[in-house]
Amino acid sequence: TWTMLNIIDEQVELIRDQVGEGRAICALSGGVDSAVAAAIVERAIGDRLTCVYVDHGMMRLGETDQVKRDFEAVFSDLDVVDASDQFLDALAGVSDPEDKRKIIGREFIRTFEAAEVRVFGDLAAGTQATAYLVQGTLYPDVVESGGGAGTSNIKSHHNVGGLPDDLQFELIEPLRTLFKDEVRAVGEQLGLPPSMVWRHPFPGPGLGIRIIGEVTRDRLDILRRADAIAREELTHAGLDRDIWQFPVVLLADVRSVGVQGDGRTYGHPVVLRPVTSEDAMTADWARVPYDVLEAISTRITNEVAEVNRVTLDITSKPPGTIEWE
Ligand code: XMP
Repeated sequence: TWTMLNIIDEQVELIRDQVGEGRAICALSGGVDSAVAAAIVERAIGDRLTCVYVDHGMMRLGETDQVKRDFEAVFSDLDVVDASDQFLDALAGVSDPEDKRKIIGREFIRTFEAAEVRVFGDLAAGTQATAYLVQGTLYPDVVESGGGAGTSNIKSHHNVGGLPDDLQFELIEPLRTLFKDEVRAVGEQLGLPPSMVWRHPFPGPGLGIRIIGEVTRDRLDILRRADAIAREELTHAGLDRDIWQFPVVLLADVRSVGVQGDGRTYGHPVVLRPVTSEDAMTADWARVPYDVLEAISTRITNEVAEVNRVTLDITSKPPGTIEWE
């Protein structure tokens, strides 16, 4: 639409003024916000934008490959860092949700700082006194400071070893006045692929906060298979755009008795958490049709041997948050 075109042109001009001949860096989470923010900046300064995508090993089935394909088509300077081992090793033995988030945030900053050093480290002092960081901050993030932010929100950028001492960091936040639906409209206007524009929100810490209990590779594998089925059936039912988000949560420390195949099993429950929302500040549990729920339940218990019970979360936000951790 006309307004979205205005927003893009206006931001491109502002960014050119702000950055001049300088360089910028952006952490792409895989989500629509950082992707659209970076695409606007790419339009303004081209390959003087470096995009960094950190694979923390807690993405959904096939997601990192999809994200890579999408991003490679859009961004000329893309740095994909496989840091799965680093993240999963750091999470070993940790069950507390806030501890998990802190560790994931810390490892993310470490990885991203290394990328910053690669981008800005060789700048002779005086050539560029400012390092620009692109962030996909939306209007609701500005209002509800702290909410919906996590590893995607870079907070500490002082004292990064290997960078010129007098380098200042400055944010570029081209989406600060926008709501999610407007961001999607801008993304479409920019010609970004639908898989990017219409992707459901996904938390920075990924499946790490959808495994209740310790995050291990085995548990990630179980959750990935269950989650993929839920997403497939939702897509198959044509409901992707009616649902804001559809987390599947693995209650990894809980077991229940079931009968599967030839006999008694003692497996894990998963929780389906489909929600509708405008901006994630409040949410309602989504009335997904029973036949779709049934298809998901039947397939998960047939195809994922470790799961013998599928439950539905019917809590709104508030009082429940969208994620379980
Ligand atoms: P809650 O669970 O607080 O989530 O209702 C609100 C929205 O934020 C997402 N979320 C996160 N996003 N880092 C993120 O980038 C995080 O640590 C994080 N925690 C929750 C959640 O998926 C929902 O869209």
